[in-house]
Amino acid sequence: MAGSTHQSLNTVADELFDKYLLPKAALVVILAASLIGTVLSARLAGTGALALAVLKCSYFVSLGVLLGGLLWKHGFVRPADLGTGAAEYCAQMYDRFDRLAIAAVVILIPSTAIVLGFVYNSSRVNPLFRGVLGVLVIGLVVCTLVDVLRADPIEQRFRTVSGVAALGFAIAVVILTASAEVALVGRGLLAASVRAVHLLAFTVWVGGAVWNIFVAVPSGQAQPTVPVIRAAGEQLERFRWAVRFIIPTLVLTGIYQAVDALGTQPSTYFGTLVGQAVLTKVGLIALLMVIFLTCPMWRACSPIDGVCDLADLERSSPPAAPEEGGTDD
Ligand code: HEM
Repeated sequence: MAGSTHQSLNTVADELFDKYLLPKAALVVILAASLIGTVLSARLAGTGALALAVLKCSYFVSLGVLLGGLLWKHGFVRPADLGTGAAEYCAQMYDRFDRLAIAAVVILIPSTAIVLGFVYNSSRVNPLFRGVLGVLVIGLVVCTLVDVLRADPIEQRFRTVSGVAALGFAIAVVILTASAEVALVGRGLLAASVRAVHLLAFTVWVGGAVWNIFVAVPSGQAQPTVPVIRAAGEQLERFRWAVRFIIPTLVLTGIYQAVDALGTQPSTYFGTLVGQAVLTKVGLIALLMVIFLTCPMWRACSPIDGVCDLADLERSSPPAAPEEGGTDD
């Protein structure tokens, strides 16, 4: 009996932690779609060299790792998780993310300098605006480092002032970056808002995918206990909800930008390189949708399908005894 409970627990753990080939494939597709996005944007704005577009992509990805990761750290992980015996798991996740965040900062600093110095160094982008963007990036770097370098007990690392401020700075940096991009092609407020939403959706997605693969899964694999699986499943479910909004948001804002820049003539899309880049992005988001719907790990947690790993877990394990002093979110 004890053996079968142990086995089904392991099965749940495998479902949750081991079937992550598809999420890894999704991350590669997200990165490919972003690179095509920055190349496309550079072509449309006439800001040139492929190397600069690649560098801008690394600027966006490092921003995304920080924004999406901070959102998971201070949003999807909840204080309630600590009251269910998953404190050590959360501490491990924090340590892993903190190391990743430092790496992201190391990439963000030089890529910001290059983006500000070579891409936005145009008469169309107000120098004051560039200065504000630089100051916001400095705010993001400082707050992130204060947040990740603190050695406090895990309970005091949730929703810290520095962490929430870093998240605020990251959002502001993405919005201002979108405005700078749109200023390069002389468009107005609506175009800037649409680009900001496109970029925010992308950064939340890439950062969340990186957290899931490089932070949540290895930490969970190290200790697949019932409270850990339960906490991990709940956090993953919160991210899945975010992805349900991110996919249609990227499609709608992407199509708006494509029509705004290239019009609606099919020949433009099939007959030019930029048009084919847009079509490739449509193909990539379709692939991401297929991955999202068919990925066993994600589907297993879906309330839409009615099949849920957490429900399996409840069946295979006795209900957790209520813990004293557990906090709610
Ligand atoms: C239906 C799907 C999509 C379409 C039609 C689309 C369309 C576009 C267009 C037209 C641009 C260039 C905007 C301009 O410079 O005027 C762009 C930029 C971009 N897109 Fe998408 N996109 C789609 C999906 C995605 C996905 C799935 C991602 C990543 C998860 C993504 C990330 C980006 C990024 C990072 C940029 C660069 C923005 C910049 O350099 O300022 N897009 N997209």
